[in-house]
Amino acid sequence: MYDPKRWTNWCEKYRPQRLSDVVGNRKSVEELKRWAEGWREGKPSKKGLVLLGNPGIGKTTSALALANDFGWTVVELNASDQRSADSINRIVKPSALNESFDLDGNFVLAREGKRKLIVLDEADNLYEGRGEGKLGDKGGKQAIVEALKISQQPMVLIANNQRSLFKGVGNELKKLCSLVKFLPIDRESQFKLLKTVCAKEGKRVEPEVLWLIVEHSSGDLRSALNDLQSICTGKNEVRKTDTLALGYRERETVIFEGIREIFRNPDLRLVRKKVLSLGEEPKNIILWIDENLPYEYQNPDELSKAYDCLAQSDLFIGRSLHTQQYKLWRYAIDLMSCGVAGASKRPRMGYTRYQFPQWLIKMKRTQRERQLKRSIGEKLGRLCHLSRLSAQIHQLPFFRQLFKNDKEFAQEMTSQLNLSREEIKLLIEEEKEKKERSLFDFSIKQ
Ligand SMILES: Nc1ncnc2c1ncn2[C@@H]1O[C@H](COP(=O)(O)OP(=O)(O)O)[C@@H](O)[C@H]1O
Ligand SMILES: [Mg+2]
Repeated sequence: MYDPKRWTNWCEKYRPQRLSDVVGNRKSVEELKRWAEGWREGKPSKKGLVLLGNPGIGKTTSALALANDFGWTVVELNASDQRSADSINRIVKPSALNESFDLDGNFVLAREGKRKLIVLDEADNLYEGRGEGKLGDKGGKQAIVEALKISQQPMVLIANNQRSLFKGVGNELKKLCSLVKFLPIDRESQFKLLKTVCAKEGKRVEPEVLWLIVEHSSGDLRSALNDLQSICTGKNEVRKTDTLALGYRERETVIFEGIREIFRNPDLRLVRKKVLSLGEEPKNIILWIDENLPYEYQNPDELSKAYDCLAQSDLFIGRSLHTQQYKLWRYAIDLMSCGVAGASKRPRMGYTRYQFPQWLIKMKRTQRERQLKRSIGEKLGRLCHLSRLSAQIHQLPFFRQLFKNDKEFAQEMTSQLNLSREEIKLLIEEEKEKKERSLFDFSIKQ
């Protein structure tokens, strides 16, 4: 039973136990099932199955869930120090033939009519070494091929990299195994899963935060769940600003590095990856590119093409914010990264000093002022039965006039709205500033 007081990794806690709960890759899961049914009927199409795909997309999970669905015992080999020819001969071969001992020395019984599923995880790493000796990987590879040839039990090999798995002696594996490819998990399914986990854990997490995690994960559910858990630790509510804690945000130098990649790297795939790895929201990244584009692209044609892409990217960002369809981010990111990079064909040399976006500087400078306006708007809204925004737009200018010209009104409102010193100062100072501005404008017109 799960003990709530004990820390549990969410990946393990929410690892699907049955194939029907595995997210995505339906076709691959069906192939897995068909292969296992072949074994159950005693005439498997191939002895082994190779599950191939990126990390964190459900390969190990599916292998274990398959065994669970079919009531099979699992013999699992996944620590790299147990990959030698010696351990394969000692553990895998006897398992492949009949009853055996597992890695912990427990007796594993192939119960009547039931099979054992031999799972060799990270099988491509297994073959990557150079050793030739008794503990060498070459021996390990050969041992696997031999084990498969004699096996009377189903065997699953799991790998990220097809080439290193099949190279050399591994070529024989092609004949002995069927290949099942797993694809990265699509964004919507990831989002749905993260949302379900949040609900089960009683965490309120803003959807933008979940989308940011999904975008950053590149289809890797393990990393998405780990990010989610790390950001939720110690909190019941997570807002956008908390994504700073994920460590994939901000830091000027990191962003500068990212935009340098856009302007200078000819490999568009890498450019896109780099921009995604910034973990910044697209609406922020675009500001950095916008600010620095003219420092890099001086040819008017290139500049115009690049700004065209930025404008289109901005449209997608706007639409995603209005409709809450954060999957539109991917188009925004493609346009601002690959679109801008593709606008110039010339390699760029030399050093360019990038600038912090002026717009952000201005927003930062006026941050306190905007906060105060919001808080006055809120108080005023409550009094006038208006939303904060309507109060700010429709009531504040009028209110300010009265506040300035009518001392009694100002006193009464100060106490009724419980205005702070700073709020009062803002109301009055803004007026002063405006006065100055209008006088200045007047003198210019003269
Ligand atoms: N397709 C999936 N469906 C549901 N959860 C998944 C899926 N893929 C990964 N996960 C989550 O990520 C964790 C790691 O997945 P795993 O199957 O070990 O990945 P790998 O493909 O690297 O073997 C699982 O424990 C589970 O919580
Ligand atoms: Mg795995």
